[in-house]
Amino acid sequence: MKELEEKIRQFETVLPGNVLKVDAFLNHQVDPVLMQHIGQEFAARFKDAKITKVWTVESSGIAPAVMTGLALGVPVIFARKHKSLTLNSGMYTADVYSYTKKTTNRISISKRYVDKTDRVLLIDDFLANGQAVEGMLQIADQAGVEVVGAGIVIEKCFQPGSAELAAKGVRVESLAKVSSLADGQVSFKQTEGED
Ligand code: G4P
Repeated sequence: MKELEEKIRQFETVLPGNVLKVDAFLNHQVDPVLMQHIGQEFAARFKDAKITKVWTVESSGIAPAVMTGLALGVPVIFARKHKSLTLNSGMYTADVYSYTKKTTNRISISKRYVDKTDRVLLIDDFLANGQAVEGMLQIADQAGVEVVGAGIVIEKCFQPGSAELAAKGVRVESLAKVSSLADGQVSFKQTEGED
């Protein structure tokens, strides 16, 4: 998605550890117009998948997920990372290890908002080691719902997440594919037929 690649270039900052800083438009300050276009793009790519819900993990997945839900006309659930005062029992849970932050978060989704007949699209801001998507897949498994695929804003192709999801047969649609962050430079993987 050209508009997204241009935005990444505009704010190009690579932190030690191959971390791409995107807090100017995605992780902290949010560009609503870009998010709307991202949502429309995911909705177009999955338009025939009969999606009934969009799932993500708080916090940075929420903006693109909400815009995708708006474009598809379906509700959005964000898995919680923290214990909530009002959401105590009746939760599906999975443990998600963050290689980037070296912490484990238990993510949870309330059973109240999950229907056995749901067809779920998973959305996340980054696909790196694939742990967040893996956690949502575990929850989908517990809930017995079908996952139609994963929509990823920025895929880091040089990390193992995308290959692992492909090996599991999960359809992954990524809007920007970063092939390298070496020497502080962002390189994109060009795909055939890209706009
Ligand atoms: P995963 O995202 O595929 O699960 O892999 P990993 O365990 O490496 O990621 C852990 C956290 O680090 C995730 O955020 C992910 O979005 C973030 N992350 C991974 N690579 C990058 C990067 O290059 N740049 C930035 N800015 N973040 C990256 P999280 O813990 O879910 O945090 P949140 O921001 O969604 O709250």
